[in-house]
Amino acid sequence: MKKPGCFITLEGVEGVGKTTNMAFVCDTLTEHLQASGRNLVRTREPGGTPLAEEIRTLLLAPRDEVVADLSELLLMFAARAQHLESQIRPALAAGDWVVCDRFTDATYAYQGGGRGLPIEHIQVLEKLVQGSLQPDLTIYLDLPWDLAAKRIADRERDRLESESHQFFTAVRQAYLDRAKSHPRFVVISAAEALPEVQHNIGRCLQDFLRSRSEL
Ligand code: TMP
Repeated sequence: MKKPGCFITLEGVEGVGKTTNMAFVCDTLTEHLQASGRNLVRTREPGGTPLAEEIRTLLLAPRDEVVADLSELLLMFAARAQHLESQIRPALAAGDWVVCDRFTDATYAYQGGGRGLPIEHIQVLEKLVQGSLQPDLTIYLDLPWDLAAKRIADRERDRLESESHQFFTAVRQAYLDRAKSHPRFVVISAAEALPEVQHNIGRCLQDFLRSRSEL
C-alpha cells in the first residue's frame, strides 16, 4: 500500500534565507523520496496555482489605495482555498510530499501579529478553508528583524516588505509564540552561517523522517 503524503512548510520573515533553504529542503527530501518512487511538490503561498498567483500579485503590488487589513486577510485565504483545492490536497491524496514556502502560520504572524487582526477571525477562516488539514512539520527560520532588514537592504521592496520595524518585530514574536504552542514547529536560528543553518535543517529532516518510519 502507498504511504500517505506529507505536508511540510517553511516559515520566517523576509531576509532569513527562505528561498535558499527551501531549495535545500526540497533537494534533501527529493533524494530520499526518489528511492521509494514518490514525488515531491514544491509550492508557495500566497500562490501555487495560476489564480492564486494572480491574487499574490494583487496582494504584493505597492499601491496608493490603503489595503484594508480584512481585505488582505480574505485575499490570503482566497488564494489558500484555491491552492488547497487544486494543488495541495490532490498531491497529498496521491501520496506525494508537499513542501510549501509559507502557509497559515504566516497569516497568524503577519495578519494576526503584524496587523493586529483578532486571532479568532483567523481561526474561523482557517477552519472553513482547511478543515482539519495542518502541516506535519513546520521549519521556522528565526532572525531578529534588525539583522533580517540588513540582509534585504538592497532589495526592491514589495508592499508587505515595506512595512515598519514594529510590524516585523510583532510578526517575529507571533511566529515564536506559535512555535511554543505547536509541537510541529522546529525553530532554527538563521543568524548562523549558511552551512550551519543547513546542517541544522538536515538534522531536523532526518529526525522527521525517522519519526515517520521513513529511515
Ligand atoms: P514571500 O513568499 O516572497 O516571502 O512573500 C510573501 C509575502 O506575503 C510575505 O511578505 C509574507 C506575506 N504573507 C502574509 O502576510 N500572510 C500569509 O498568509 C502569507 C502566506 C504570506
